[in-house]
Amino acid sequence: MLFTSKLGFLGSLLLFLPTAFAGFSSSSTTNLAVYWGQNSYGQGTGSLAQQRLSYYCANTQFNIIPLAFLITLGNPSLNFANAGDNCTAISGSNLFYCAQLEADIGTCQTTYGKTILLSVGGATYTEGGFSTSAAAISAATNIWKIFGPLIDTTVPRPFGNAVVDGFDFDFEATVSNMAPFANQLRNLMTTSTATTGKEYLLTAAPQCPYPDAADDQMLAGAVPFDAIWVQFYNNYCGLQSFTVGSSTQNNFNFATWDNWAKTVSLNPNVKVFLGIPGNTGAGAGYQSGSTLASIISYSKGFSSFGGVMIWDMSQVYANSGFLSSVVSDLGQPATTTISATLTTSTLSSTTILSSSTVTPTTLQTVTTTTTSAGSTPTTPLVNQWNQCAGEGWTGGTVCAPPYVCTYLSVWYSQCE
Ligand SMILES: *[C@@H]1O[C@H](CO)[C@@H](O)[C@H](O)[C@H]1NC(C)=O
Repeated sequence: MLFTSKLGFLGSLLLFLPTAFAGFSSSSTTNLAVYWGQNSYGQGTGSLAQQRLSYYCANTQFNIIPLAFLITLGNPSLNFANAGDNCTAISGSNLFYCAQLEADIGTCQTTYGKTILLSVGGATYTEGGFSTSAAAISAATNIWKIFGPLIDTTVPRPFGNAVVDGFDFDFEATVSNMAPFANQLRNLMTTSTATTGKEYLLTAAPQCPYPDAADDQMLAGAVPFDAIWVQFYNNYCGLQSFTVGSSTQNNFNFATWDNWAKTVSLNPNVKVFLGIPGNTGAGAGYQSGSTLASIISYSKGFSSFGGVMIWDMSQVYANSGFLSSVVSDLGQPATTTISATLTTSTLSSTTILSSSTVTPTTLQTVTTTTTSAGSTPTTPLVNQWNQCAGEGWTGGTVCAPPYVCTYLSVWYSQCE
């Protein structure tokens, strides 16, 4: 009544507006994903401590929230930092039931149109995947019963009747048989979509060194991802390496990932997101202001660009004005010279390697960096001129900003 009598035509339009409020869109270049669950800013109490999910979903500035993390797959378990304190153990399993998350996932999806993904992995994931593809497929079937639509009342359900919108992979260590695991989830999703109409997503968060050491089996044409958010932080190829005003980049390698999307990815329409730290302490290489605006504008020039991913919610809420600046940057036009220069067929993986200062040896050395979307560096940041990599090196591998871990020999890389 209100719509028809008071709002008339506009009101009827509003009824069709779920798309305006919708989550991930593969045709949009302004998607914004923000990880929730790890309380990475680290406050135990007060307004900057991680709040319950629904508190953030009311914010219309982002449309995708990966929940971090499902930390084991064989015997499934979750970690949501302080949000886990509000959950209760489910006996006979390593899982907990979270009434707030059951309610909030539903509210976030239905009221606020958010895409809610469950992210697998994180810094503490140590299972290494699966010993056989049969084990991987059976684990995926189990995960689907736990977090997908209710099809088996005998399995524990941490989110009750709530159903996630898909799964995200964030591994920092090598994993085996993760492609059959992901593909089994994909098959179950596709079958479910055919009967219910609900769409599901598969996403991944590789680190920027290409190819990604952890996710490569899945990314090398084996799994049809909808989107990947590349972590352009904690590595030499991150935001700090972007050269403002230059249409060709050396270490900053969005071009490499765009090329992956078009020539390697099983889904050639996969979207590539610029993954960024949401605050100075969220990851090495943090950028803001006009530099970040330039990086976003440059990245937007690639046709695979789908938006920005931020690590993580607690960090960005402690960084006043940052989220708004990212939203505003995303709304700006792309740097047009880039799409002209780099998205054409003249760009092959060979030209990327030869035109950049990154040699295969450098890549091998620096991909040993051990950080993930799900973690701030576990060892202290390395200062200028100190060692950050090399055979046998077990110390810190992440340079304090703005320094970059630079390859000198197989034995020695330093921050400069
Ligand atoms: C935990 O529950 C309390 C009480 O409902 C709520 O205020 C708080 O936001 C919750 N915390 C998290 C991190 O979910």
